[in-house]
Amino acid sequence: MSTKLIAPSVLAADFANLQRDIEMINNSEADWFHIDIMDGVFVPNISFGMPVLQAISKHATKTIDVHLMIVDPDRYIKEFASLGANILTVHYEACTHLHRSLQAIKAEGMKAGVAINPHTNVKLLKDLIQDIDLVCVMSVNPGYGGQSFIEATYDKVRQLKKMIEKKGAKTLIEIDGGVTDKNAAELVKAGADVLVAGSYVFKAADQPETIKGLKKLANS
Ligand code: DX5
Ligand code: ZN
Repeated sequence: MSTKLIAPSVLAADFANLQRDIEMINNSEADWFHIDIMDGVFVPNISFGMPVLQAISKHATKTIDVHLMIVDPDRYIKEFASLGANILTVHYEACTHLHRSLQAIKAEGMKAGVAINPHTNVKLLKDLIQDIDLVCVMSVNPGYGGQSFIEATYDKVRQLKKMIEKKGAKTLIEIDGGVTDKNAAELVKAGADVLVAGSYVFKAADQPETIKGLKKLANS
């Protein structure tokens, strides 16, 4: 079994001490930086944009996993590549020509991800699963950190895992929203490969220990 990965979500970091929090992730057992970009249109919240990503890239020493919660993401694919994104995830619900968007992401040398909202059935990905490097299963409604995990996610992950295996695809399954020590092991058991965690990591008194604990649970 391959190692399960932990991706702290920078959305929950202390933005007045961003460099400190980035160094904390660099020096921890975390695997990726999860970066949430929200436009106030696709989701009812605005997070941060290019200058902040640029600042993060400058200090981050691990894979940069960018989750775009924006309409018409094709407009910015080249720019995200130049700002250091290694994985670029667009929302299924925001793309009219999803296959084309995925090809455009790969053409810029990035891995291509697709995020699905809690209401989106995994079956809708069946015809292009082989073209997707990562499916980000939203386990909360996107837009905010600190929300409660939606229990129906386990079943979606199981269905998705089955589909990936059946098609012989190499797609990774990432879970985003409300991940804690309470659901990490069960998510991995259902088929998850990458766990995003925002509040659970950054609200902890000992953040590196919390990341270490989550990684241990995910790989037990
Ligand atoms: C939600 C974002 C998540 C969020 C997760 O729209 O996509 O990545 O930061 O935060 P927690 O772990 O606090 O639910
Ligand atoms: Zn996210």
